[in-house]
Amino acid sequence: MSLMEFRGFAGVRLEAEVTGSEDDPAVLLVHGAGQTRAVWGNVAEALELAGRRVISLDLRGHGGSEWPDDGRYDPEAFVGDLRAILAQLGTRPVVVASTLGGWIAAAALEQDAAMLASGLVLIDVPVDVDPIASGRIGERLRDIAGLAPGQVPWDTRLIGALDASAMAARMGEAAAKIALPTLYVRGAVSEIVSRDDATAFVARLPDGEFAEVEDTALVVREDRIDALGGYLIDFLERRAPRGSPEYREGSDARTFRDALGCFATGVTVVTAISPDGTPVGLTANSFTSVSLDPPQLLVCIANNASSAPFLREADRFAVNVLQIGQQPTSNRFAGKSEDRFAATPWEIGEYGTPVLTGSLSSFECAREAVHEGGDHFILVGHVLKAIFEPRRDPLLYFRGKYRKLHFA
Ligand SMILES: Cc1cc2nc3c(=O)[nH]c(=O)nc-3n(C[C@H](O)[C@H](O)[C@H](O)COP(=O)(O)O)c2cc1C
Repeated sequence: MSLMEFRGFAGVRLEAEVTGSEDDPAVLLVHGAGQTRAVWGNVAEALELAGRRVISLDLRGHGGSEWPDDGRYDPEAFVGDLRAILAQLGTRPVVVASTLGGWIAAAALEQDAAMLASGLVLIDVPVDVDPIASGRIGERLRDIAGLAPGQVPWDTRLIGALDASAMAARMGEAAAKIALPTLYVRGAVSEIVSRDDATAFVARLPDGEFAEVEDTALVVREDRIDALGGYLIDFLERRAPRGSPEYREGSDARTFRDALGCFATGVTVVTAISPDGTPVGLTANSFTSVSLDPPQLLVCIANNASSAPFLREADRFAVNVLQIGQQPTSNRFAGKSEDRFAATPWEIGEYGTPVLTGSLSSFECAREAVHEGGDHFILVGHVLKAIFEPRRDPLLYFRGKYRKLHFA
């Protein structure tokens, strides 16, 4: 965890807590009135685990951010703060905001939304605040302040300064202009926003979605974190997906290998007899069927493999497709030290190639052609004979790991 500082409206100092990797896409959490960033607790943790960089802000007059002497807690100041933060971030976060935070976020994203953020989640944000709801918000703040006078972690001057009706009206006006994927989440038994008002608001958004969390009036609560986390992560993954690794010509070969590794394969050991009569062979997953008639297959061999010169020249070779019990064989024929054949059961096949006994299948081939292929060569074989075992499962290889068949 680290702290970040921003300069907000009129230079006010604002503080945020940051967790997660700098490389991950960011989520900016904005709490409600009379709360601090601490309210997000486990939500921040769940988002971090889901691969997001989480920035939890303290609004002005709250927690570690400045409590301005001039007592400016009007919409202009709050909205100015958030726009300044978004401009200073250097990344376009998904803004997740509840109650007061939601009013501020909606108004801040009324203009240039796509330049400042990549999505918006509004939680329990009152839409049209009637005097009764407005009174409730004031009461709630007064209650909290009254519980521990002088100790609340926010500036109690806020109680008189907040104009809930004005802020809610401003959010209503902003709705149609928020050009971002937006999720509105409401506590199903909310007292501060009705379902009708919320869904009417969502209908005005250019790209809105609506969700409800059961059995609660307020969603950002300890006992509702799991439900909220679920909605958030689902929304983020759909609407603000994590960037995928990318390979471009000239990037490192490792990334290219990783990209290729997304193609799941079986595993083979390609074998031949060298001119001095000893067997050679190596593990290869570049096996492909080529032609049915005539029967042909291919395998790609690295030019710098020690067995490459022999495989290139051999008139005959075999491709042994490994079964699930032959992982040690695969390792042996891909590794350095061991005498590969001494530790592996094998025999000379009908066409004079080393056949690894107990393989899933073994193809004995005559060399048909050799094509150059960059740092590999493509060895095409004409299949003379294939034996195969119909009952065993294959050894699989995917993303650099051995795998076994799995039927969902
Ligand atoms: C699953 C797996 C698949 C492989 N596929 C190939 C392949 O298609 N072609 C290749 O040249 N090397 C491939 N290799 C690497 C070789 O098996 C490895 O470099 C081996 O040590 C080469 O042996 P050699 O240099 O003694 O001939 C693969 C290795 C593994 C583990």
